[in-house]
Amino acid sequence: MTAPSTQRTAGPPAPLVEIQQVTVQLGTRTVLRDISATIWPGEFIGIIGPNGAGKSTLLRILLGLVRPTAGEIRILGSPVRRGNPHLGYCPQHRSFDRDLPITGREFVGLGLDGHRWGIRLPDARRDARIMAVLEAVGAGHLADAPLGQLSGGEQQRLAIAQALVGDPSLLLLDEPLASLDVRSQGEIIELVDRLRRERALAVLFVTHGINPLLGVIDRVWYLARGHAVIGPVSEVIRSDVLSQLYGLPVEVFEIQGRLFVSLPDEWAHHQHRDGVRR
Ligand SMILES: Nc1ncnc2c1ncn2[C@@H]1O[C@H](COP(=O)(O)OP(=O)(O)OP(=O)(O)O)[C@@H](O)[C@H]1O
Ligand SMILES: [Mg+2]
Repeated sequence: MTAPSTQRTAGPPAPLVEIQQVTVQLGTRTVLRDISATIWPGEFIGIIGPNGAGKSTLLRILLGLVRPTAGEIRILGSPVRRGNPHLGYCPQHRSFDRDLPITGREFVGLGLDGHRWGIRLPDARRDARIMAVLEAVGAGHLADAPLGQLSGGEQQRLAIAQALVGDPSLLLLDEPLASLDVRSQGEIIELVDRLRRERALAVLFVTHGINPLLGVIDRVWYLARGHAVIGPVSEVIRSDVLSQLYGLPVEVFEIQGRLFVSLPDEWAHHQHRDGVRR
């Protein structure tokens, strides 16, 4: 017996991002080599790896800010383009002058101006959208506060609100925990996890330590020497997998549910000697 032609079974969801054999060369340096991955809607992925591994570059190729030398990237089935409203981005290393004459509300509003090609929302709708996103990140009370005078944790909340205000499907957060204390780190992780659940938002979260993310991330994307491995934490943060990635013997320890990656001394020497992080 055949099913009526009008009845359809829901197939698997379409991939959000498809990265196929991407290589990025910047100057004489091959920053990323032959990277492939598929990211699904609503996934929370932690991106980790040593300095210079290519973490920021990985986000920047999705944004169209860096062009791969080879390979293909599709976001919701379309090629990468700058100003893609499906992406929200918090760049690395932002510090604000204490006297910066901009309020929380104005800062978040900048996230609406970047990618609408000059089509501005009517002011009332714009204000309502900004206030809604400020409330969503627990920063409604910071709407009129001067940005430069806020704490690092408060500024980070506003940066996330700015990335979120265009209603993206994918949030790219480049080291949102940098310079935050342990409590603020926990609050930011909790916030991002809640937002992605409420909004079915996928998140790429660059950070230096995996431990605060254990328990919330679906997968980890570990970068080293321009190579990458992606998968569940239990399949990636392992001595054998990381030794292969680094090309050196690496040991992973687990102590009271926390993971520690121990690199041999040659690693520092290796990076220094080559000048090129392979
Ligand atoms: N425009 C550029 N020209 C040449 N090399 C570049 C350029 N931009 C980045 N690089 C190099 O690419 C490599 C990867 O940089 P990237 O910023 O992606 O690393 P990262 O993993 O984000 O490091 P960090 O943890 O320090 O933020 C570095 O060696 C960097 O020096
Ligand atoms: Mg970086």
